[in-house]
Amino acid sequence: MKRALTPGTFDPITAGHLDVISRAAQLVDELIVAVAVSAKKKPLFSLEERVALVKEVTRDLPNVRVEPFDELLVDFARRMGAQAVVKGLRAITDFEYEFQMTALNYQLETLFIMSTPQHMYLSSSIVREIASLGGDVSQFVPPCVNEALVKRYAELHAAQ
Ligand code: PNS
Repeated sequence: MKRALTPGTFDPITAGHLDVISRAAQLVDELIVAVAVSAKKKPLFSLEERVALVKEVTRDLPNVRVEPFDELLVDFARRMGAQAVVKGLRAITDFEYEFQMTALNYQLETLFIMSTPQHMYLSSSIVREIASLGGDVSQFVPPCVNEALVKRYAELHAAQ
């Protein structure tokens, strides 16, 4: 059984993530999308919300499972019985960070999937920035994520 992990904070999951996840799922028997707590990043969405959104947008991918994690990726991968990590690689700017992570996670095989050109410059932080200023991000995220963003920023702006 070939099992791999695709880790991330997914705050929120974007069309770019989904592209990498669906392509990675074709390469293995089971793909676990590992949603990191990432407390230091102070995510916009709670862990439960991020997991729920990832589950919702991957529900048509039968060999994809979604799990939260709050430990070292190598430890989580070992516990899950995953032999590899599959990550998306966008612009060259991703390379240095991913190179460092891969070196530190040397006990794990890391495979990179190149982003498709239309997702090359997409990131959760850009999506949050545009949505927070009232911009339309519907082309960058699945519909349920778009709705969640509109709702969250409406709540935050109302509370100000
Ligand atoms: O989507 P992100 O925030 O860029 O994902 C980063 C993530 C969650 C993949 C990374 O921070 C991670 O693996 N965290 C788990 C803790 C860990 O193993 N840290 C050391 C990595 S060398």
